[in-house]
Amino acid sequence: MKQKIVFATNNAHKLEEVAAILGESYEVMSLREIGCEADIPETADTFAGNALQKAQYVKEHFGYDCFADDSGLEVDALDGAPGVFSARYSGGGSEENMTKLLHNLTGKSERGAQFRTVIALLIGSDTHLFEGIVRGTIIEERRGEGGFGYDPIFVPDGYDKTFAELGSEVKNRISHRAQAVEKLAIFLNETK
Ligand code: IMP
Repeated sequence: MKQKIVFATNNAHKLEEVAAILGESYEVMSLREIGCEADIPETADTFAGNALQKAQYVKEHFGYDCFADDSGLEVDALDGAPGVFSARYSGGGSEENMTKLLHNLTGKSERGAQFRTVIALLIGSDTHLFEGIVRGTIIEERRGEGGFGYDPIFVPDGYDKTFAELGSEVKNRISHRAQAVEKLAIFLNETK
């Protein structure tokens, strides 16, 4: 029988990606599928803190084993900003976030950055964290149409195209999220 596990998200793309990696042994359910309509608070100042907050909410209110993720962009020359504020960096959408970031890096030669994902898993009475990081460079202007968020200004190390130019097939193989999900999948498939 498939083991039921909740992924604390309603993002259909993330659910599909994770369900495909986890394979046949797990039935991955979204928040909507368990009847959770709440806007779960994410008020911590770390990715791990936010991921744990979301997973704990589901475990407490619905009783399911659960995992949750939190991600963002950390820029070296900005001491790790925008970090947990990546989605709301400018108060506007992705375009405004990129504009603000490029503005804050004007004239700076240090352009190193990383995307980071932390997944928190609450299973039985245990808590586990899984992390994925992809290092790269923030370029000076947007390139490419694909992806979302900061993808048009991020060139991952070892490539000469942005995440927005590389396409989902390559991105989903090397991304911070893919690496964290892969670690979660290895753990779950070893312990099932
Ligand atoms: P989330 O925790 O995965 O929802 O990510 C929070 C925010 O970080 C997003 O709204 C984006 O601004 C940024 N972000 C996370 N992952 C990516 C990515 O793969 N590409 C571009 N931006 C990302």
